Amino acid sequence: MLRTVITGTGSYLPEKVLTNDDLARMVDTSDEWIRTRTGIRRRHIAADGETTSDLAVRAARSALEAAGRAAADIDMVLVATTSPDYSFPATAVIVQERLGMRPGSVAFDLQAVCSGFVYGLATADAFIRSGQAGKVLLIGAEVISRLLDWTDRNTCVLFGDGAGAVVLEAQEGRGANADRGILHTRLHADGRYRDLLTMTGGPATTGTIGKVVMNGREVFRHAVIDLAEVLEEVLREAGVSPEEVDLMVPHQANIRILEATAKKLGLPMDKVFVTIADHGNTSAASIPLALDQAVREGRAAPGDLLLLEAMGGGFTWGASLVRL
Ligand code: ACO
Repeated sequence: MLRTVITGTGSYLPEKVLTNDDLARMVDTSDEWIRTRTGIRRRHIAADGETTSDLAVRAARSALEAAGRAAADIDMVLVATTSPDYSFPATAVIVQERLGMRPGSVAFDLQAVCSGFVYGLATADAFIRSGQAGKVLLIGAEVISRLLDWTDRNTCVLFGDGAGAVVLEAQEGRGANADRGILHTRLHADGRYRDLLTMTGGPATTGTIGKVVMNGREVFRHAVIDLAEVLEEVLREAGVSPEEVDLMVPHQANIRILEATAKKLGLPMDKVFVTIADHGNTSAASIPLALDQAVREGRAAPGDLLLLEAMGGGFTWGASLVRL
């Protein structure tokens, strides 16, 4: 059977770093509060004029290089983002043109907020396994700093900018869990909770982009419950026990969410790859950013069984079991 295999990873972080102490000079907060409540120490912020497609292109080039592929080899580019350059055209078509991909290749954006990368994996997997694409470039990229209210300490301390990318390729597998590639994915959404983490505007409502608003405590509560459930669901359906997982590469929202989720699953924290201290929450970019770091540091190697998970606004959530 056809499998969707990750053949290269890449990432890019903007140069500018914003520390907790920098934030304490902007709003009523402290390094101590941010570190103990979230695990975040610093985050990267895009320069003036630097856009989501700029970050996406740099991450994509590094993933293509790692995969040993040229942009012309790619059949489809997907950009998971909540902070697109424009309402339209899709950031993906800008990336397609700037990378020099084949005119006529498929390009579209995917909006599932912080779960965008996991939703993107499931989408790419469906295209590849149905024979509609042989090689897919999946990018998570965000300049979420432009969506923040920099006077709101409840939200502005949590997020950062960045991009991560993977090259996904069709390879023949045996249909067993020993295969390389995406083994099993589960996605969920529940729009009843959309007001708990939302924007104050949009193109068809206020005609502005608005700012992020969030009920942090409720988001936290749902995240821990929903993530534990979807991880258990994916492992059970794939017939894999938590002990068999080599590394969990989660969406990086809050270290306490990661710890609570790992504990519910019975996974020790040394099997959870954590980048939140240096990246903050980069929304759809956080999993591919962390994955690329894990690969380059040798924490994730070909053959390893990885568990990816995310939860975000909507609510949307999901998890994917992948053999690297
Ligand atoms: N600095 C200092 N004080 C702050 C700050 C800040 N940056 N932000 C909020 N506070 C205050 C609040 O105003 C509140 O004050 P009050 O009691 O006088 O009203 C107090 O701190 C305590 O607030 P809590 O809500 O109890 O703090 P909590 O322990 O829940 O931590 C946090 C807040 C970090 C936002 C947490 O709820 C959280 O991480 N939630 C998940 C949110 C999230 O990750 N969102 C990202 C998108 S969704 C996703 O990716 C999963």
